[in-house]
Amino acid sequence: MIKSSKLSVRCTQIIFRRNNILSLIVSVFIATSLDGFIARENDSLDWLDDANKTLPIGEDCAYEKFMQGVDALVMGRHTYEKVLTFKQWPYKNKRVIVLSSTKLKIPNDLSTYIEHSSLSGKELCASLEKEGLKRICVDGGITIQRFLSAKLIKDLTLTIIPVLIGKGKPLFSSLIKDIKLKLQNTKAYDFGFVQMKYQIIEQ
Ligand SMILES: NC(=O)c1ccc[n+]([C@@H]2O[C@H](COP(=O)([O-])OP(=O)(O)OC[C@H]3O[C@@H](n4cnc5c(N)ncnc54)[C@H](OP(=O)(O)O)[C@@H]3O)[C@@H](O)[C@H]2O)c1
Repeated sequence: MIKSSKLSVRCTQIIFRRNNILSLIVSVFIATSLDGFIARENDSLDWLDDANKTLPIGEDCAYEKFMQGVDALVMGRHTYEKVLTFKQWPYKNKRVIVLSSTKLKIPNDLSTYIEHSSLSGKELCASLEKEGLKRICVDGGITIQRFLSAKLIKDLTLTIIPVLIGKGKPLFSSLIKDIKLKLQNTKAYDFGFVQMKYQIIEQ
């Protein structure tokens, strides 16, 4: 009896894996312009920096709290290269995995925290789950789109900045099939940002 229930659990696990249902939670936490861009075409974030200047001191729209709940950050090479231009590395001691098919330059003082991977999203998630990670955050437009297409993302927290920038790097792109989401929470801040948390329910 025990043996067969163990076998059934194992079978269920195999079926879950085949259907991409990992226990690892893959989340997105990102700011976009009202017209859906995460950066200008030249990667400038001037519109976001300007908007952030209007925030009350100490307000971070729940970013720190969110980051405390993730075991690692997975980002695309373009995002990594942009973040490297910031005055300070913003992720403190958080493990950061940079996805790139090319060789990556990692500054010596950050080599403890940053890793390079060229695995597919599926392979990476399976490997991180095997390592025991519970929740990761995925960052970068192209990377999020690839993870969405691979049905790996469980929830998205979008902070909409009240600005139209007309063109730029989009958060979302074309899909083979619709992805249905459930709105879990909305917060409208006095300073004009609107944050929405969605759970992906069907993909
Ligand atoms: N508004 C916000 O909150 C926010 C947040 C994050 C980023 N951003 C901005 O978004 C811009 C970057 O976004 P993006 O859409 O251009 O690109 P991205 O997702 O940051 O990077 C895409 C690149 O990552 C690599 N990559 C992704 N998945 C891979 C995989 N499984 N295996 C190997 N390589 C993989 C590829 O580069 P290779 O050519 O090296 O293979 C790909 O071209 C930056 O300007 C950044 O500042 C804004």
